[in-house]
Amino acid sequence: MTTPIPEPGLALLRAAGHVHIPDEPPNPAQLHAACTSGEFDVIVAQLSDRFESNLLASARIRGISNYAVGFNNIEIPAATANSIMVANTPDVLTDATADIALALMLATSRRIVEADAFVRAGHFTGWHPTLLLGRDLAGRTLGLAGFGRIARATARRALAFGMNVAFCPRPPHDRAVSEDELTEFGGRVRHTDWDDLVVSSDYLSLHLPLNEQTHHLVDQSVLEAMQPSAILVNTARGAIVDEAALVEALRSGVIAAAGLDVYEDEPLLASGLIELPNAVLLPHIGSATTSVRSRMAELCATNAVAMAQSRLPPHAVNPDAWQR
Ligand code: GLV
Ligand code: GLV
Repeated sequence: MTTPIPEPGLALLRAAGHVHIPDEPPNPAQLHAACTSGEFDVIVAQLSDRFESNLLASARIRGISNYAVGFNNIEIPAATANSIMVANTPDVLTDATADIALALMLATSRRIVEADAFVRAGHFTGWHPTLLLGRDLAGRTLGLAGFGRIARATARRALAFGMNVAFCPRPPHDRAVSEDELTEFGGRVRHTDWDDLVVSSDYLSLHLPLNEQTHHLVDQSVLEAMQPSAILVNTARGAIVDEAALVEALRSGVIAAAGLDVYEDEPLLASGLIELPNAVLLPHIGSATTSVRSRMAELCATNAVAMAQSRLPPHAVNPDAWQR
């Protein structure tokens, strides 16, 4: 285990076998050494642990249990080619992450961070008709890039706030959407293409995996196509956005604001981002509630134990890995 995960994960793992936790998370060379040593059946990994094709080709492990729903830190085709099963922790963090998307929409719209700083600085001298005026969510259009679990949970919340909701399920292209995905919305969400979503959204919220298709999906040309009053929200992966282009767009008023929980090169921020008053910046806390993190730990441990015992994990990302 590269970094200790919360209970009940640790207890489940310890009950099933031997668990090794280093004093410090491994650097890339240490991770490589651990994976090739033959001492470990399964690695319990974090998003910050990178498993590239070189490492995967020489790794003597059966599986990687990622403590996250995202798995862009692992080259999946290389893992599959080397018979290494990868598992993740979906579902349990869906609502918590959608909550953070709404929190960022509210925080940017109602200037929550700025308002809190205002009170703490002793500037609050009483109610005033024009103090810290923001904007309404009700009546505005939320554009969802993606229509998976987290996007749909965000749609549910936005509808409850009186917003109009549109979505493009697999930008920059499209995909067919099933009745199952749509029924709960009773016709209150609009399926559209990426170009239309970009130009018509008051809020553009990203709910996509990071891969070759989505890397820098939101680049300078997309930012320029957005409305000058638009707000970008990213709770997915930083590199879906060209962060340097975003800083420039926020600085020059190409778009109005951004609410970010993720960054292109975490934990580093693009130069200039930290100085921008129209950005709300969170430290990748989409799934960070006590109960969600323990449910993730339970899933992650259950996946790891299954793989150590040569059983298919409940949440396999590449179930064919062991058929090779
Ligand atoms: C967090 O970013 C996750 O993928 O679970
Ligand atoms: C504000 O507090 C109001 O009563 O309108």
